Amino acid sequence: MEVKKVLTSEQKEFKKLLLKLPKTEIHLHLEGLASVETIWTLMKKNNLQYKNINSKSDLKKKFEITSLEDFLDLFINIIQNSFINENDIEYLIDDAKNYFLENNIIYSELFFAPSKFIQSGLDFKKIVNILTQGAERIKKDHNIDIKFLIDVSRSFGIENAMKNLDLVLANPSKAIIGIGLGGSEKGGPAKEFAKVFEKAVSKGLHVVAHAGEDVGPQSIWDSINYLKAERIGHGISAIQDEKLMTYLAEKQIPIEICPTSNLFTRKYAKTLKEHPVKVFFTRNMDVTINTDDPTVFSVNLVEEYMNLLTENIFTKKEILLIIKNGVFATFLPVARKKEIWKMILAEIPR
Ligand code: HPA
Ligand code: ZN
Repeated sequence: MEVKKVLTSEQKEFKKLLLKLPKTEIHLHLEGLASVETIWTLMKKNNLQYKNINSKSDLKKKFEITSLEDFLDLFINIIQNSFINENDIEYLIDDAKNYFLENNIIYSELFFAPSKFIQSGLDFKKIVNILTQGAERIKKDHNIDIKFLIDVSRSFGIENAMKNLDLVLANPSKAIIGIGLGGSEKGGPAKEFAKVFEKAVSKGLHVVAHAGEDVGPQSIWDSINYLKAERIGHGISAIQDEKLMTYLAEKQIPIEICPTSNLFTRKYAKTLKEHPVKVFFTRNMDVTINTDDPTVFSVNLVEEYMNLLTENIFTKKEILLIIKNGVFATFLPVARKKEIWKMILAEIPR
């Protein structure tokens, strides 16, 4: 949700520059890119009925959530539940393509959580083919690179998470580079998934985890110690733990901050001004900015950066440094990171 403000001419100029800069985004869920149009189309096509949703505007209203648990109910039981055929996922690929073009995102690491899709009877191998071919098409048509992180999910138990990992390993794809741990942080402590993550690391996959979004700092420590998470999704409860903030800064473990998402789920910040992102940045933590679920939260990446500027959280210079962090926190080879940063620098007037 963009904070509605009349922009000064200087801010307007900066927004133009932001649009022009090639960007990366590393905490973004494919299903969270589903447009209202897509879900409405699938509801009709697949003959689905949901309580109190009789129009597109009812559906849009349903997106107004105020807690992580409410959000997950919408995410799993309406958005993910609307896909009953593997080909339905093509709609998501199209929504993703439009989002990347709109924001000039040239590289993204995208979460996809298969658990609900598999429960609905979709075949993982076919899903992988659609994701892989979708990524190839977007690369060929628009020169945008997409890699997927499969969210093994903490919402459906350890066995399910291990089953998801085994499916990833049995269906290798150049487009899939690792796993993540999303879903109910309260219901699925990181520690319990140690074996799944240990196996993933041993097979050469990257590992990341949502942590400190809905639960205190211990959840972040556990993701580092038990899961060996290379990046932390959200991580905002680190604000309660001096040692943890120092550790994250020293080790330069990137944190994927999703400001608007956090204001919707309302756990550790209700306004941008009270969001810990500035403290993290000031303490030299490796801060990146992301949207999490753009359609649900009605926000895009350019708006996230603009909100931080217009609310006086960050200066223009600081925002450019955060964009740089977003490049170097990716799992791309170092040479490619440098190349992208060079492309960005070339667009910045000096
Ligand atoms: N947290 C947990 N699970 C999720 C999220 C999130 O922010 N977004 C999509 N699935
Ligand atoms: Zn997320």
